[in-house]
Amino acid sequence: MAESSTCEQEYAIEVNHVTMVFNMASAKLNNLKEYFIALAHHELFFKEFKALKDVSFKVPKGSVVGLVGTNGSGKSTMLKIIAGVLEATEGECIVRGNIAPLIELGAGFDKELTARENIYLNGALLGYTKQFIDEHLDEIVDFAELENFMDMPLKNYSSGMVARIAFAIATVTEPDILIVDETLSVGDVFFQEKCMKRIRSFIDSGKVTVLFVSHNIKQVEDLCDTAVWIEKGVKRMEGPVSEVCEAYRNQFNKKK
Ligand SMILES: Nc1ncnc2c1ncn2[C@@H]1O[C@H](COP(=O)(O)OP(=O)(O)OP(=O)(O)O)[C@@H](O)[C@H]1O
Ligand SMILES: [Mg+2]
Repeated sequence: MAESSTCEQEYAIEVNHVTMVFNMASAKLNNLKEYFIALAHHELFFKEFKALKDVSFKVPKGSVVGLVGTNGSGKSTMLKIIAGVLEATEGECIVRGNIAPLIELGAGFDKELTARENIYLNGALLGYTKQFIDEHLDEIVDFAELENFMDMPLKNYSSGMVARIAFAIATVTEPDILIVDETLSVGDVFFQEKCMKRIRSFIDSGKVTVLFVSHNIKQVEDLCDTAVWIEKGVKRMEGPVSEVCEAYRNQFNKKK
């Protein structure tokens, strides 16, 4: 095998020159009728908004990488592109291995269905067979600690309860790549600790690559080896987690 391809295989994620453009309606339209009237009158204008501008970084297999940046900087957009939920306008994203994405709370769930039905639905989306879920249902329910709420429609769940179910399913087996957005922050402190313990056990196995987004910079420093700082869609910095987090904090202190 050529040396270069051996090197490439060492990366679980390669983000190459990714740009993401969103089209935002420039006028406020309140309903579909207004939309069609504006369309018929050729009055529908869009402003292009670049949420990510030529962002590149690589995540080595088995590493734990933090993604930091102020609100609206493009972190979740980046995670969605990596998870295949969004397609980048320009550039490419190479992913090696299966992803357990914990990005948008309740994505892949149907609010009208019960928690039990949602476990099967979401499990199918994550690529688990029905038999696998049958065998692991108790484990998932135990981890989420929601035994008494399994037959309640998800619309009656609190956001923390939804997060519990989502985390329990996504991590029932060790994924190759775990992507965690802010979803866990809605869980109570006990559940957050339980999740962090599971994430740490994945990290300790040395086999799981973790991409972790949090506004809790201390948690990022504790958990991650390296970090990428994305600010207003532009990659500001990449490197050892302590250096990146320090620079990020300093930028905040300067603003005060
Ligand atoms: N579907 C969309 N349509 C239009 N604009 C969008 C869409 N999704 C995200 N954006 C915009 O892209 C920018 C980046 O959003 P994103 O959610 O990635 O930020 P973030 O870094 O995750 O922020 P936060 O820390 O608040 O979670 C924001 O300005 C947001 O309004
Ligand atoms: Mg976000």
